[in-house]
Amino acid sequence: MPFYEKEVGTLLDEKKVQARVRELGAEITRDYQGSDLTLVCVLKGSTFFAMDLARAIDLPLEMEFLGVSSYQGGTETTGEVRITTDVSKPMAGKHLLVIEDIIDTGLTMSFLLESLRARHPASLKVASLLEKPSRARTKIQIDYKGFVIDDVFVVGYGLDYGEKYRNLPFIGVMKGK
Ligand code: XMP
Ligand code: MG
Repeated sequence: MPFYEKEVGTLLDEKKVQARVRELGAEITRDYQGSDLTLVCVLKGSTFFAMDLARAIDLPLEMEFLGVSSYQGGTETTGEVRITTDVSKPMAGKHLLVIEDIIDTGLTMSFLLESLRARHPASLKVASLLEKPSRARTKIQIDYKGFVIDDVFVVGYGLDYGEKYRNLPFIGVMKGK
């Protein structure tokens, strides 16, 4: 029996996730034909999604990583967002696609977009694997969206509960949370 089976149920299985990521990759490939592209991956949660998405995009691209802290662990937001690891070079004049695992209240993305916009990119768009619209506190335009989900705490495919479960190949729900 897998280690997580007592605590985690399946919300979106691996096949569904992979199929949707490939669709998003094809869409991004079409939209960015002829322009440069920089994926700005938000640590740590979006990394699994970002790696698969990058491989599904048939274009030359650059990858940058940005760390933010908005959750102190557990399942509750603290409301505070700050950049803990910044990208490695200037973003001015670049076509940026921010890659997130999930947009929940939207506060993290809203802060990130403001911070990136201030660096004068050529364009700025958002890809998020998941959206929890029921919890939105600010409106975020998600240009490439994987799945819309209910207000449940999800883990797996990069998402964690107390830093655990990121390595599950599917999107799961914590049983009893
Ligand atoms: P906000 O509320 O700012 O949150 O849109 C975005 C960040 O919060 C984390 N988050 C979750 N992490 N399961 C997780 O593992 C969840 O259900 C969940 N909801 C929000 C996530 O890090 C995201 O970047
Ligand atoms: Mg995150």
